[in-house]
Amino acid sequence: MLSALYHQLSKAAAALIVLLAAAVLPTAIASAADEDEESTPFAAPEVKIPAPDPNVLAFVDARATTSLNGTWNFIVDPMNMGTPGGFFGGWATTRIPVDEWQLLEYNYPNARQIRVPGDFNTQFDDLFFYRDSVWYQRDVDITPAPGQRYHLWFGGANYTTKVFLNGEPVAEQKGGYVPFSVDVTDVLVAGRNDLVVNVNNRLGADTVPTGRTDWWPYGGLTRDVLLVEVPAAGITNAKLTLASDRRHIEGEVTTRNVPKGGGVAIKIPELNISHKAKVDANGVAKWRVAAKPELWHPNNPKLYDVTISAGDESVEDRIGFRTIETRGQTILLNGEPIRFAGISTHEEPIGRDGAAYSRADMEVLFAEAKALGANFVRAAHYPYSRHAAEVADEIGLLLWEEVPIYWNIAWENPETLAIARDQLSRLIQRDWNRASVVIWSVANETPYSKPRMAFLENLIEDARAADPSRLVSAALLGDTRRELKDVALHLAAYGVAQDDVPAEERAIFQAILDRAGSAAPEVGSGFTLVIDDPLGELVDIVSYNEYFGWYYARGIAPAIGVSEKTVRQLMFQFMHHVNLSADFDKPMHISEFGAGAKSGKRGEGVWTEDYQARVYEAQTAMIANSPQVQGMTPWILKDFRAMLRTLPGIQDYRNRKGLIDENGRRKQAFYVLRDFYSGPWVTAAEESSR
Ligand code: GCU
Repeated sequence: MLSALYHQLSKAAAALIVLLAAAVLPTAIASAADEDEESTPFAAPEVKIPAPDPNVLAFVDARATTSLNGTWNFIVDPMNMGTPGGFFGGWATTRIPVDEWQLLEYNYPNARQIRVPGDFNTQFDDLFFYRDSVWYQRDVDITPAPGQRYHLWFGGANYTTKVFLNGEPVAEQKGGYVPFSVDVTDVLVAGRNDLVVNVNNRLGADTVPTGRTDWWPYGGLTRDVLLVEVPAAGITNAKLTLASDRRHIEGEVTTRNVPKGGGVAIKIPELNISHKAKVDANGVAKWRVAAKPELWHPNNPKLYDVTISAGDESVEDRIGFRTIETRGQTILLNGEPIRFAGISTHEEPIGRDGAAYSRADMEVLFAEAKALGANFVRAAHYPYSRHAAEVADEIGLLLWEEVPIYWNIAWENPETLAIARDQLSRLIQRDWNRASVVIWSVANETPYSKPRMAFLENLIEDARAADPSRLVSAALLGDTRRELKDVALHLAAYGVAQDDVPAEERAIFQAILDRAGSAAPEVGSGFTLVIDDPLGELVDIVSYNEYFGWYYARGIAPAIGVSEKTVRQLMFQFMHHVNLSADFDKPMHISEFGAGAKSGKRGEGVWTEDYQARVYEAQTAMIANSPQVQGMTPWILKDFRAMLRTLPGIQDYRNRKGLIDENGRRKQAFYVLRDFYSGPWVTAAEESSR
């Protein structure tokens, strides 16, 4: 008889898998623009554009820079035919006609004006849904100093960026969200320079992420643009780390044009450190010095002024020193147990549509996380601007940073892997001195397959090689089929005992229990959910997205023939008996749970604040009942823009799982979580360390 139950459940599971697959598995995004552009008789010529410097030019805010932020000329190019040198792009490589006789159709004097930084989707109503090519242009007036080098630096742009300076193609970056730069000294002229940038936010089956994401594909020059002046001989980057013994600081300085044996100096005055080292044949100086710094902690975000000198330059930064590690199923910050009382975010400001880009945006957003009582933020699902980790360092928030390996990626496409590795490398090179950053995450909800394992193993190895001082994780999916079997059995056990469940539904539940025989659970019992995704072997913290109380009812109710209302109400009765665990002797982190609510909507059903609050009450009880879970980042701090979320009057192209709405109004669930974070689940870990 049990087989009949499993048959029913496997049908249920199959139905749900189909539902889930239809909802999340992306299909290649075909669009007119994907046609083979070369087939057009007047297509622009293939322009060979060099890749930007693979090494991130760090410490930009400590260098001599000319900001190129501000108003730029702007042309929308849906056919993506405006490349300089092409028929429509104008054979001339400039964009400013010399007189009224020159035929130049992509020219700027009468173009729109756009603000940089900032996505283009929310600066013009007609571009809200736009996902294709645009052109930016501005003049750069400069008198280059002899012997100095000039780097064009972009904090990030979405998604493919092609940079032309005085008609010269100087850099092409594939992949959004991460900084890139290029030395343009040899192309710059004294006086007026013509800077043209093409950005295309079109995504497809081979991009990172693909064209299907549950967040807005904000496009354009979304981050700061700077012209950075540096001496020929100097510093490209440097990494400082508190050693695992917490009694030494060790580091590496990567220099430029400093000969072997050349000197590097590291000064941390407050620690009486003034240390010298010599560069090797590769221009890298490694060093280690005894030190007992005051340890950085969310409750005490201590930062030190650091100066690094080499060649003809010095750079400064403010750096915190701490260690992060795991021991068995415990997370240790500075050797003491800690639980991640967190919240997930997207990089959107409170009170304004569009991509966040400024320091002020991040200060306001992260202040709300602190108001929640959080000590941790999962900065989903892509690298944020440099301001995010800087602000987290200063106000005391631990950070999970992530590259957008999201849902289904072209696991077997070498170029896709190269883009993913480049994004991870740039993120780590930019933020490896940020004490707040404790986790590099390489994936979100990627279904198991061998190609997926190979792809992610590459990224995990890269992360560990670039920065062994931090933890690696990934947000995993569970085995829905197995989860649903346990859920259905417990629904039945609780359902038959519930007088207000309609008789015909109680009969269905009874039939499930009869077929389960001795496997039928008791009321008051729960079950242990086990995450055993093989990726768990490779990460330090096993993270898991689960939506008990929200999505599961939608699939399981029709599968077993009862109403969603019944399933939802019964779930609340047994969720706190569920034990979330992982098949690895490692800490577990619940990287997502949540429910949608329209701010101000009250009542009992879905989309009400009351329902969302009930989900948070049941979820926090379930997590408190799961000893292996050492962290949580519920989904999500703020309602955010998403093309998938169309429900008129409720979503209107926003995902409504925020604890605050787009204007910052707090929903009931905000207070449920804040109360939980001031309770024993968080303080117990800290008390156990006293
Ligand atoms: C997924 C996914 C998120 C998404 C969320 C949701 O787990 O990771 O990007 O927004 O669920 O369904 O709201």
